[in-house]
Amino acid sequence: MIRLKINGTEVHIAEGATLLDAAQAAGVEIPTLCHLKETGALTSCMICAVREKVSGRLLPACAAKAMEGMDIDTDCEKVHEARREILRMLLDEHVGDCEGPCSRICPAGLNIPRMLRHIEHGESEAAARRAKLDLIFPATLGHVCTAPCERVCRRGQYDTAIAIRQSHRDASMPFLKETVGQDTRRLSTGKSIVVIGAGLAGMAAAWECALNGHACRIYEKRDHAGAALRALPADKLPHTVLDAETASVQALGVEFVFNSETSPATLIDQYDAVIVACNLAFTPDARVFTAKEEPLHVRAVGSGKKAAREANAFLANQPAPSADKCFNSSIGRLQPIELAAYAVERRNQADKGQEAARCLHCDCTKPVSCKLRLYAQQYGLAPQISRTMERLPVAPIQTTDNVLFEPGKCIKCGICVEIVRASGLDAGIAFAGRGLDSHLQVPFGAGLEKGLGRVAERCVQACPTAALSFRNAEES
Ligand code: SF4
Ligand code: SF4
Ligand code: SF4
Ligand code: FES
Repeated sequence: MIRLKINGTEVHIAEGATLLDAAQAAGVEIPTLCHLKETGALTSCMICAVREKVSGRLLPACAAKAMEGMDIDTDCEKVHEARREILRMLLDEHVGDCEGPCSRICPAGLNIPRMLRHIEHGESEAAARRAKLDLIFPATLGHVCTAPCERVCRRGQYDTAIAIRQSHRDASMPFLKETVGQDTRRLSTGKSIVVIGAGLAGMAAAWECALNGHACRIYEKRDHAGAALRALPADKLPHTVLDAETASVQALGVEFVFNSETSPATLIDQYDAVIVACNLAFTPDARVFTAKEEPLHVRAVGSGKKAAREANAFLANQPAPSADKCFNSSIGRLQPIELAAYAVERRNQADKGQEAARCLHCDCTKPVSCKLRLYAQQYGLAPQISRTMERLPVAPIQTTDNVLFEPGKCIKCGICVEIVRASGLDAGIAFAGRGLDSHLQVPFGAGLEKGLGRVAERCVQACPTAALSFRNAEES
């Protein structure tokens, strides 16, 4: 047995064990990208760097052997900075969008490509549900939103942007009177929240709070909900649409009190939290949150959702949620020369004559399980990628019947190469080229199907990014 210290705690571990094994024995998590038990140490990423305190050296935990008397730090600033630097280098070469550019810009965060896939596959209730849970007022916004998402839609670089606003309007209208999304309501928390203002921001905040299991009441000085939206002519926004979506908030148990002017100071002692969703001045208080009735209606919904998240975290004694969005690698605008390569495997449905089928599905296939994104988020990289060099060109997706390979998302960890090699396949997959030009390739042009052979599924599961993924898989 060997004795060493991991973050000050003494660990006893068998001879031959690595620092990663020792950390695991001590219950300490170390990030890894290129490490897999079955392939052994490949040391191609170095994200597992830890610091040996006496010498100050950084060591790759997955490969360095645990030695008697070592004193290892896995979490100091030097280690974190090294890991951040590695992530920056990997992301500099990364060509992929974690989220669709359309979703990223939607202030209410509608998962647009996913909704479009539901529509395309004829899953009308699932499409309506996605639109409802993300937008809360998908039909109202389907009439009045200025659609910033369509301005950045990549399909516009080929011909015309997808009609996203019309799509969520059409998806939600048939379900206006249904209880779509209300089954996600959590059990009662026993807490109560009051919202001041029944515009879109206030109602969105109330919907989210009610879904989270809080009792919720809205005070509104007017005699109706929806603020200025109600003054719009019926050809712009039929009252029946706004009424039905207001009723869906009521159906969650939210109580509306109209013709009632009030203030946070009067209410604060009667409720666990207050959300101010109107232009009221108030004395700052940890129990009071604000949602803005923005002129851009979809932004008002986004603001209401954010206020609800903050109030929810406060009531659950959790730290305030970060104001930043999740980390997002993004390709940005395609160069004219890249249009053809990007379209491979993305435009094959374009002749269906259906609007949703024109979507290029710019979003990533593994937005949740991708370790590169997870660590970028965990180690505090800026939510928007900032490159130190020109982005590498887009390379076409390669496929088998059920596997996609996106070369731009490959971090060249070598895991799939090792899995394939160990399986004894004839063709296999290997790295070709050098430096930035190095890339995965099946020798002699044999194609991905042959290259991955019977271990394709295992390779997809082990790939730390979405370079290898299953066709038609959805993560949430
Ligand atoms: S592979 Fe990971 S980092 Fe790359 S686009 Fe997908 S989720 Fe983002
Ligand atoms: S093509 Fe689809 S996924 Fe891409 S930006 Fe447009 S709507 Fe979003
Ligand atoms: S495809 Fe995935 S597993 Fe294979 S080298 Fe690239 S990142 Fe690693
Ligand atoms: S070098 Fe250790 S996980 Fe990659």
